[in-house]
Amino acid sequence: MGPAVGPAKQAAGAPHAVDRLAALLADDLAAVDAIIHQYMASPVGVIPNLAAHLIDAGGKRIRPLLTLAAARICGGGGDGARKLAAAVEFIHSATLLHDDVVDVSSMRRGKKAANVVWGNSASVLVGDFLFARSFNLMVETGDIQVLDILARAASVIAEGEVMQLAAANDAEQTRERYMAIIEAKTAALFAAAGKAGAVAAGRPGVEATALDTYGRELGLAFQLVDDALDYGGLAATMGKNAGDDFREGKVTLPVLIAREAGDESERAFWRRAMGGERDDDDFHRAVALVRRHDGIAKTLEAARAHAAHAKEALNALPANAYREALADLPDFVVDRAY
Ligand code: IPE
Ligand code: IPE
Ligand code: MG
Ligand code: MG
Repeated sequence: MGPAVGPAKQAAGAPHAVDRLAALLADDLAAVDAIIHQYMASPVGVIPNLAAHLIDAGGKRIRPLLTLAAARICGGGGDGARKLAAAVEFIHSATLLHDDVVDVSSMRRGKKAANVVWGNSASVLVGDFLFARSFNLMVETGDIQVLDILARAASVIAEGEVMQLAAANDAEQTRERYMAIIEAKTAALFAAAGKAGAVAAGRPGVEATALDTYGRELGLAFQLVDDALDYGGLAATMGKNAGDDFREGKVTLPVLIAREAGDESERAFWRRAMGGERDDDDFHRAVALVRRHDGIAKTLEAARAHAAHAKEALNALPANAYREALADLPDFVVDRAY
């Protein structure tokens, strides 16, 4: 039996890796927050209200922190990097608004999801607004290369979400397709967040490649953990409900592991349930089968391998406090599941 999934394990009172990174970049992060609030303003009241509901509910700000740290590691920073980091968080916020509509999710960041409060149409449209604002910000950096990197990432995220939609309720989902989906929907933005920070700091070569790899591997670990938590996490700790993936017919790694290891009757269950015929009780059976075959522990093992690759990628970068802070992030991402 694998580890129980619960609140992140860490020494009481010890700041975790994201907090440490945020403390190191406190001035930058405060400036990013101010930019975000400035750019989400609109005379159309629903826009700032809905955007604030999501953005002021917190969120870990991992992606903008990655952009800021990447720029600092490379000797950059300043206004350009801050605008870029704000653009990255806007892209993330827009995808969350759209994602909760697509996933019919009712809880986000510990609150009612925006689609529950304002409806699907408003969520989609405000998501579009935030996307558009991210492009304003990128243009203001005056750096066409970072615009290219983030615009590509935004299109790849959309491809990932559409790929996932097309793969929903396909009980024959393969590991290869699952990995392609999570790379596109999640890892691509982490990769772009790191790479764009390096490019903005004038280091488009080895450093940009290393931070691209770091972000991609961290993003893969991140989504694998997220997918493990969906079969064992607590809503109170996650700020969103468990079971969303099962309800939406998403065949994620914990299911793939349980399906591959299951006997014929278990495989019949997965064929039926992941094929689209399921009720709410089936989720409890799914959780039991995932646990029986160590699906959570094995998914977390896979996440840990990607976290290790992320840390390795940092070796190509100049050693400084920002690099050290990024080095702790992959373990935090995986440990938050224990
Ligand atoms: C949520 O990302 C979406 C996924 C890729 C799983 P985060 O867990 O980074 O969300 P916030 O920004 O901290 O709420
Ligand atoms: C995360 O998707 C990726 C994007 C939001 C594009 P999920 O659907 O897996 O993430 P949560 O669980 O809603 O945060
Ligand atoms: Mg979702
Ligand atoms: Mg989704």
